[in-house]
This record gives sequence, structure tokens and C-alpha cells, in this order.
Amino acid sequence: MNTMAYIVILAALSVQMLVAFPEPQCSNYDFQEKLLEKTVRMELHIELLEKENKELKNQQLLTQNNYNADLAALNARLGATNKIIFRAKLSKQSLPLTTQQIVVFDTVQDNVGNAYNADSGVFTSQLNGTYVFQFAIGNPTGKPGAMFLKKNSEGIDYAIAGHTSGWNIAGKTAFLYLEAGDTVYVVGEGHVAGTYGTDRHHSSFSGVLMHAC
Ligand SMILES: *[C@@H]1O[C@H](CO)[C@@H](O)[C@H](O)[C@H]1NC(C)=O
Repeated sequence: MNTMAYIVILAALSVQMLVAFPEPQCSNYDFQEKLLEKTVRMELHIELLEKENKELKNQQLLTQNNYNADLAALNARLGATNKIIFRAKLSKQSLPLTTQQIVVFDTVQDNVGNAYNADSGVFTSQLNGTYVFQFAIGNPTGKPGAMFLKKNSEGIDYAIAGHTSGWNIAGKTAFLYLEAGDTVYVVGEGHVAGTYGTDRHHSSFSGVLMHAC
């Protein structure tokens, strides 16, 4: 039965009670009538509870859906696709540069996320976020050289080596906020020493995404 039907029955009962001759309080008729009225009220109450329960379930489903969407977005941000780190060196012992040109660090040791291009020497940001870059130049006596860290052709940092006696190495670290598509690379001039033996990496370039945002 629907709500309307209950209301009609309740109204009918009330009218009947009003017009009926007063019955003795404990008569069978009075008892049955009260029982019927109570049953109808209870059924109405149950129907209301069922409706409330349905609404609560819908609300819970909506909350769960929102929660799942938030969790998926968070997982995407923390996921493997957001890991960006590269480390590169020079394979040559010596890289003489006459004019300012991009230093192509061709020996790639790490390149998670493939943002660094070992053919061009250019790092291209794939995500907005905070990045840290490091570059170093090492040169022997009498072979001076310089390196410039660039962000979209803007000069960010500078390091020199080889102007004094003996070998020396200069390195710099830069913290950069990059938007997707920004490029970071190193331009060099003069002499840039590479790797002597297996572990003597004199010059290097590396970078890491600290957090995407
Ligand atoms: C990166 O930042 C720019 C500028 O604030 C914004 O227009 C763009 O939507 C952002 N891209 C992403 C993928 O968040």
C-alpha cells in the first residue's frame, strides 16, 4: 500500500471514531480498532524508514564514488609516470668547444621518465613542478672552459674550470619551477673534460623532479 492509502484509512478511522457511539472502553470492538490503527501507523513508519534507508544508501554510494575518484587522482600523482630523474656524463675524454653550444652529455646512466634526450642534450619537462638540476665542469691546467645552465635559453647558472694550476672542478645546483614543455640544458665554451679511466667523470649533468604540482 502506498502512503496515500494509509492516510485515507487513518482519516476514515478518525471519522468513524468521531461519529461512532461511545463504546465501552474494554470492548472487543475498541481493542480491534486500536490494534488496526497501531498496525497502520507502524506500516507508515516502516515505509518512512525504508525511504530514509534508501536515501542514506544513495548518499553513501556518492561519497564512496567521490572518495574513489580522489584516490585515483592521488595515485596518478604518486605513480611511476611522475618519477623523473636523469644523470648523464660525457663519453669523450675531451670536448673542445669553440663557440657557445649545447653540451651533449651522451652517456646516460639514469633516465627514468625519458625527459632527457641524450642525442640533443636537452631536458624537456613533462609535468609542472619543482625540479633540481646539477651540472659540473672539470678541466686540467691550461685548458679553461665554462658551462652555462639554461632554461628556455634564459641563463640560470654558470661554472668555470681550468684557469688555475692542476685539475679543478666547478659544480652548481639549481632549483627550478618548470611548466610542462620547458627545456633545461647546458651550453659550454672552451674546454670541457669528460671521463678519464672508468670513474673519473669530470663533467656531468643531472636532474630530478622533486614534486609535481
Ligand atoms: C601547468 O601550469 C600552467 C600555468 O599555470 C597551467 O596553465 C597548466 O594547466 C598546468 N598544466 C598541468 C598539466 O598542470
